[in-house]
Amino acid sequence: MSKIGEWVSGRNPGGSAENRAEAGIKELKEKLWWARHVTVLTGAGISAESGVPTFRGEGGLWKQFRAVDLATPEAFSRNPKLVWEFYNWRRELLAPLSPNPGHFALAEIERRVPHFTLITQNIDGLHEKAGSCNIIELHGNIWKVRCTRCQRVLDDRRVPLPEMPACESCGSLLRPHVVWFGEMLEPQVLNAAYEAIGNSDLMIVTGTSGTVQPAASMGVQAKRNGASVAEINFEPTPLSNLYDISILGKSGEILPQLL
Ligand code: OAD
Ligand code: ZN
Repeated sequence: MSKIGEWVSGRNPGGSAENRAEAGIKELKEKLWWARHVTVLTGAGISAESGVPTFRGEGGLWKQFRAVDLATPEAFSRNPKLVWEFYNWRRELLAPLSPNPGHFALAEIERRVPHFTLITQNIDGLHEKAGSCNIIELHGNIWKVRCTRCQRVLDDRRVPLPEMPACESCGSLLRPHVVWFGEMLEPQVLNAAYEAIGNSDLMIVTGTSGTVQPAASMGVQAKRNGASVAEINFEPTPLSNLYDISILGKSGEILPQLL
């Protein structure tokens, strides 16, 4: 059997790491069986096995680049060409990538439970590619552009986009339809996420370091509302101990085992 990580719940049953992981998976499977509304929150880690770089940790994007130079409204006003260069590079990187077994497992779970909501911080579009339907993209989508003047949002899959892409309606500069540091999340997107969390009896948090708000506190919010919360992450996070179940391992290996 492959090594699949460790169960680090407050009710740790002891034994080997493998046994603890198996116990965590078994408990989560049982909760999944009974759940009426499941909400899943994902972060960059779920796409790591598809070849998408995460933000923090070894090889993380924010280790190589300064977010203030590339992912803030100020950076875009100062040097839109540079910001578009960064996003064009990421679009080129993402275009050939495919969903991994973690994405596919979530799409399958959606088909099997009565109500399911997927909240993602990712902008890569891989959940949709894997067949997930009810997706809330907290931080936008790299395959959409928004006019800086008329605010029109459009799908745009050109790779690369022109250096300074222009709106077809009004000719103004387009920007990536993503949320940058210092920007508010769209209220209707955030409300939809909180509504799903409020209705959930089980939440799974996976592939996120839990460092960027408001997503970081959504698992705790779910717990406050009475849901069980399970975390599946490659390494422990500052929130691991607050959850009912915490399984250390790769999402692409653990999530398919829930089916
Ligand atoms: P991070 O890069 O902060 O965290 C990724 C998490 O995934 C880490 O805890 C890793 O241990 C874990 N991880 C890595 N590979 C994994 C795997 N195969 N299976 C499971 N877990 C794995 O990414 P996010 O938490 O998504 O925001 O970052 C949050 C936000 O910060 C992003 O949405 C982005 C960024 O700045 C914006 O761009 C607005
Ligand atoms: Zn326009």
